[in-house]
Amino acid sequence: MELQDPKLKQRGRASVNFLAQMGMAVAPVRDELNADIARLVDQDNLPDDLDARDTAITSALAQSTAFATQRLMGDWHGRSHGKVAIEAFQEIQTDLQPILDATTHGPATLTLDPQMEAPAYWEGVHFHRTTGGWEGHEHMGYVHGEIIHKKMVARFFPGGIFEQRRKIAQMAPQDHYDKILDMGCSSGHFTTALAEIYPDAEITGVDLSARMLEHALRTANANGWNWKLYQQPAENTQFADDSFDLVASYILLHEVPSDAIRNIFAEAFRVAKPGGDLIMSDVTRYADLDKLSAWKADRGAKYGGEPHWRESASLDLAEIAREAGFVDTSAEGIYPHIVRGRKPI
Ligand SMILES: C[S@@+](CC[C@H](N)C(=O)[O-])C[C@H]1O[C@@H](n2cnc3c(N)ncnc32)[C@H](O)[C@@H]1O
Repeated sequence: MELQDPKLKQRGRASVNFLAQMGMAVAPVRDELNADIARLVDQDNLPDDLDARDTAITSALAQSTAFATQRLMGDWHGRSHGKVAIEAFQEIQTDLQPILDATTHGPATLTLDPQMEAPAYWEGVHFHRTTGGWEGHEHMGYVHGEIIHKKMVARFFPGGIFEQRRKIAQMAPQDHYDKILDMGCSSGHFTTALAEIYPDAEITGVDLSARMLEHALRTANANGWNWKLYQQPAENTQFADDSFDLVASYILLHEVPSDAIRNIFAEAFRVAKPGGDLIMSDVTRYADLDKLSAWKADRGAKYGGEPHWRESASLDLAEIAREAGFVDTSAEGIYPHIVRGRKPI
């Protein structure tokens, strides 16, 4: 059995497939819902306020079967995906254990901090409604990174979740970096893209979740990569000033409130070397969407276990990068929205 992308047992595979197929089945329901929206919603007079807009649209859609179906499917998926993935993992755990054990050691290092005070906006929150949240199982990093991501989300996520990470990693301004920091590295998917695209770089990752970092460690060891992983808040790392040639993140920012986003940019600036680059990628800005599309995104976030999404999607991240001190900033892309900048020399 491989560490990555495991072959599940029949029961786990069936349950995981059911949820992945439910994710794919939402597409035709969405088409029907769009037809109902066109018929029932007064799109020219939608309120500016997001809550008032939600009330107006949901009341207009009260009789829409497609709306009720989409809600039900989303709710079912949200409530069950973590539990199903944990059960699928438990069926293969005995076979997998030698590989999990063997990949605990290798060229990569992980420094956990049992004394770390996790921010209240993160601690105990079940992001994405995943059973138990980021720390919900001893092997949650594996469950999340290999089963939820690769066996479910990757099958219905538009644009390909791994291709997207690679594209963003390639968008950093230079072809070569000596030292890269990945903020909110989680189980190591974006870190993998960085390692593949900048094979000579020394790669460091920080995350709050010990469970996610443990899987990032195993991924690095399985691939012979010498990542340095730390359990540290991105807004308050222990690195010296001017340490990294590139500071990067992929979908970290929508998981933290706006004051923490500002602190993360400030910390990125502090630890970037003079002349070093920044690339932060995250979810679609509401300002780039029409009112109806922003409602869809906001509603998906509200019911999808994303408590900070609205706050983050309402910010101008390039402006925040400038406030932090970065120059030559740019912002582009709808999803993901990508902000780049440079620390002046
Ligand atoms: C959506 S995941 C990031 C995905 C990851 N970059 C990837 O490519 O798969 C968000 C991660 O950010 C971490 N996180 C949230 N707030 C953080 C903070 N203040 N500092 C460091 N990590 C944080 C969470 O623990 C979680 O692992």
